[in-house]
Amino acid sequence: MSVVATTDRLFLRHLAPADIDALGVIQADPEVMRYVSGRPLSRDETAAQVDRIVAYQTALGFSLWGVVDRATDALLGRAGLLVQIIDGVPEVEVAYLLARASWGRGLGTEVAEAVGRHAREVIGLRRVVALVHPANVASARVVTKLGFATERRIEWHGEPRDVFASATADPVGVCLP
Ligand SMILES: CC(C)(COP(=O)(O)OP(=O)(O)OC[C@H]1O[C@@H](n2cnc3c(N)ncnc32)[C@H](O)[C@@H]1OP(=O)(O)O)[C@@H](O)C(=O)NCCC(=O)NCCS
Repeated sequence: MSVVATTDRLFLRHLAPADIDALGVIQADPEVMRYVSGRPLSRDETAAQVDRIVAYQTALGFSLWGVVDRATDALLGRAGLLVQIIDGVPEVEVAYLLARASWGRGLGTEVAEAVGRHAREVIGLRRVVALVHPANVASARVVTKLGFATERRIEWHGEPRDVFASATADPVGVCLP
């Protein structure tokens, strides 16, 4: 088991095919997926996603990770970093998703903070973004609490998203001469 980050109540670890059933149940909930994919995912869709997540981790050294309850070892969701091309510019997105039973206890903020810290302190990124559906009040609040500022609204796979960013300029945090 490869642990990526630890917080007071959670840890983040690499996902594996053994997580498909638990993550599949979480992502089959329409409320959880409302502002992510806009519809619940089938178990097969989650299985295919986990394959991509594992390959992505191998290729890039970061990906979406499992969010695990330190007290019970239960998988509560997934969170991590994804490269996205936004208006032609490569950006690194902070992504987070928790099972509905885990909402409302500050865990979303706790996990998003941990992912942001990993991006900054381990990967060395100066800027990360979040892509938040305009109606996703909880997610907008999470990133606002982290100090992200809203930059603009974009169309993302046919849906609106507000781009929240941790910093301005230098999208990938690499200044080349
Ligand atoms: C977004 C998500 C991770 C938030 O998780 P959470 O653990 O409930 O969030 P927190 O408890 O840390 O709450 C963060 C803030 O949002 C507020 N909030 C939470 N749910 C809210 C809601 N439905 N309406 C308004 N505010 C809400 C909280 O009050 C808190 O603000 P406060 O500290 O000022 O009181 C969770 O709702 C989720 O997994 N949603 C489905 C997946 C998703 O949309 N992911 C984000 C994609 S961009």
